[in-house]
Amino acid sequence: MKVLDPCTLVIFGAAGNLSRRKLIPALFRLEIAKRLPERLIILGCGIELREREEWVDAVGNMLQQAFPLGLDQGARARFCARMHYQAIPPGDDAAYTRLQQLLEGNAEFPPNMVYYMAVRPSEFPAIIEALGGVGLLKEKNGWRRVVIEKPFGYDLLSAQTLQGSLYKHLKEPQIFRIDHYLGKGTVQNVMVFRFANLLLEPLWNNHYIDHVQITHSETLGIEGRADYYEGAGALRDMIQSHLLQLLALVAMEPPVTMAAEHLRDEKVKVLKAIRPITQNAVHAHAFRGQYASGSIDGKTVPGYLEEPGVAADSTTETYAALKLFVDNWRWAGVPFYLRTGKRMPENSSAICIRFKKPPQDLMRHTRSGPSQPNWIMLGIQPDDCLKMEMQVKVPGLDLHTRSISLDATYRKGSEEDFDAYEGLLLDVMLGDHSLFLRIDEVETAWRVIDPILKVWSMERDFINSYPAGSWGPRGTYRLFDRDDQFWRHSLNLDGADLKAY
Ligand code: BG6
Repeated sequence: MKVLDPCTLVIFGAAGNLSRRKLIPALFRLEIAKRLPERLIILGCGIELREREEWVDAVGNMLQQAFPLGLDQGARARFCARMHYQAIPPGDDAAYTRLQQLLEGNAEFPPNMVYYMAVRPSEFPAIIEALGGVGLLKEKNGWRRVVIEKPFGYDLLSAQTLQGSLYKHLKEPQIFRIDHYLGKGTVQNVMVFRFANLLLEPLWNNHYIDHVQITHSETLGIEGRADYYEGAGALRDMIQSHLLQLLALVAMEPPVTMAAEHLRDEKVKVLKAIRPITQNAVHAHAFRGQYASGSIDGKTVPGYLEEPGVAADSTTETYAALKLFVDNWRWAGVPFYLRTGKRMPENSSAICIRFKKPPQDLMRHTRSGPSQPNWIMLGIQPDDCLKMEMQVKVPGLDLHTRSISLDATYRKGSEEDFDAYEGLLLDVMLGDHSLFLRIDEVETAWRVIDPILKVWSMERDFINSYPAGSWGPRGTYRLFDRDDQFWRHSLNLDGADLKAY
């Protein structure tokens, strides 16, 4: 275990949704696990004026919500002792000077600093400019690091503009563009699975793989985030970042080492190899939909257009599916199908890899239906698992075959379970960029989806809808190259037979 430098973690937007749901609980889990540096101060910044005691109470409430079964009181006391608060009211020009005086004039705050932007993306540039203006980004007596949440821009051009504003005050090694998906254990396991095992490597190419499916489905709707989601939509919110990262991990070549730059070089190569989708080809490669009212877990839920803050004629997509091709030696001709949706029947994220059928169907007389291909599936959530489907002989005197699932659940009972943010927060304090995005990765990902965004933004009259609680609009099946390809909704054996609805 590496020893972490003493550090001050400044969270902008400390009272907001991300901080409440993810950051504070993740930091507390690290506190319980005794993984935080002994000298770590957490300074919450928000627009409201509050005394320190009021902030400590607010943090206590966040913890109670996140850990309803009770809190380790010793850890709670240690955690609360780290908490400080500084108000940054909008339009108060002197606020950043006060922040600088607090941070630099007080020995209690270690001079190594992480600034976490848990605010709306539109606010990043102004905060960076203000921090730079008062000298808080200069690495004088310690390091200064900035964590930027996604989305990094809303298209290629805006990402480049945002980047320009960061480079005025920061160098690339100071910037940590977070994609929390990369902090998930099973996502990292994709690399272990591929590069710590030789078994699969000969099969991992277009000779044996029929297609790859990457899915993230959620039962939740937009949860009061209309102001963000209306301008984002599913393609920007999930596919440009999280799902393209998963594709890159599945498809990349083995890196020279696991060092950050080697890893990121290989991911960029894959993203660059994705065949550009011309505007004419958008309909053949991309499908969007929006949830109408329906039922989730037996409860009626409103449609997207009925959500507070959503325009009555909004065509923002809450479901998006893509077919992409990686035009390189390994993957030529293999479709990668990506899909994500809100208000679907299940919360689940998985990578499903379907293999081709054997060249000759020698077993055709042993079964009644069509032959079943092999699948390898990596479940990311809710359960991290690894499954492989194969054909076996049914015991008995006759030669009949059936599919079985080899299920390698690799978590052992007592093993720790962390959410994605814990590891990533530690990586920022360590200065390890491996699981953070480099600017060329972000730009290349925008290049992949920009043409789709352009066409969709021009087609504002109509969007397919799907009832909440279903697996998305029917028309999405037109993306498949062949009739025997279909979305796999479950990692269980019977899931292979399920089609939409
Ligand atoms: C976020 C998206 O990046 O990822 C959300 O903005 C989405 O819309 C979330 O719900 C999904 O991540 P997780 O880890 O909660 O499955």
